[in-house]
Amino acid sequence: MRHISLSLHLICILVTAITAPNLQAQPLVIKFATANPQGSHYVVHLMKFKQLVESYSHRTILIDAIIDGRYGSEHDNVMGTAEGDIQMSTVAVNNLSPFAPSVGFLSLPYLFDSEAQARTLFRHPIMSEVNSKMVEQANVRALGWMIGGFRVLTNNKRPVYQPSDLAGLKIRTPMNPIMVATFRSWGIEPLPIAWTETYAALKMGTVDGQENPHITYSAMPNANGHIYKVQKYITDIHYILWTGPHLINEDFYLSLTSEQRQILHRAADEAALYQWQWIAEQNSKQLQRLLDQGMVLLEPANEEQLWKAKAISIWPQFLGPEEHGFLQRIEAIIRD
Ligand code: MLT
Repeated sequence: MRHISLSLHLICILVTAITAPNLQAQPLVIKFATANPQGSHYVVHLMKFKQLVESYSHRTILIDAIIDGRYGSEHDNVMGTAEGDIQMSTVAVNNLSPFAPSVGFLSLPYLFDSEAQARTLFRHPIMSEVNSKMVEQANVRALGWMIGGFRVLTNNKRPVYQPSDLAGLKIRTPMNPIMVATFRSWGIEPLPIAWTETYAALKMGTVDGQENPHITYSAMPNANGHIYKVQKYITDIHYILWTGPHLINEDFYLSLTSEQRQILHRAADEAALYQWQWIAEQNSKQLQRLLDQGMVLLEPANEEQLWKAKAISIWPQFLGPEEHGFLQRIEAIIRD
């Protein structure tokens, strides 16, 4: 009898020894950064993704959310993801394209007429070609894309209705050659400044204005939602639709099991849909908040025709024969 109970005891120890490493396996922790604060559409997207991944993986994958610029500027986020110091980040596409010029087409002025066109594009298989190029150029791919509304122009000096009204104004843009060229086409030399430094630059008068979607002002880094204290006029140009990739380091992506990849893709798709819905409701609310605080909304003159004609004249500067062909395919998809 004693012999049987000893054997049982031994079997129990053996079973425990075999299963223990699984029970104690460490979860996979993914560092996911954004330069933007709580309340921004970035963090809304990130937290949704985190919740979905941790639920679908039964917490075998955890997302370490590094928000509020704790990993630096958007350029730092791209470089950290490319080098694998962090595994994921979300940035405005204009802050990725200096590292992956193949996504530059998304910042071409007046490419998109509506958010619906971007939703169509981001669900289209052609985006896997975009991913292959991003991997070649910057060692990152996009698991999905956020949409943030059209970039409008703000300044604190005077009403701006047409490009010639910009004369003498110092306008901040991202450090993006297409956006710089666009402002040159409108007759001024803009000042590229990191987004995380922009509120201070507006406050100190280093610049008089900048351009971004309404939603971005609700959670502008280092601004506590107070852009209306440093900006007065909003010119409602629709020159670029804000879009932003959800980046993942390619080596890390390739190291995952197919089951882990499926979980990340499923969560990324659902988080993107959630963010698209959220932004559609929030942009108009945020505009109203700014108007309630005394900002003034101005319609561009002549239905924006002059802004558009000048801006699209820069396209050829950024399109070689290969990009030109690719862009024709993109336009066929979004204007279908
Ligand atoms: C920029 O202007 O740099 C970006 O659009 C800001 C952002 O990250 O939303």
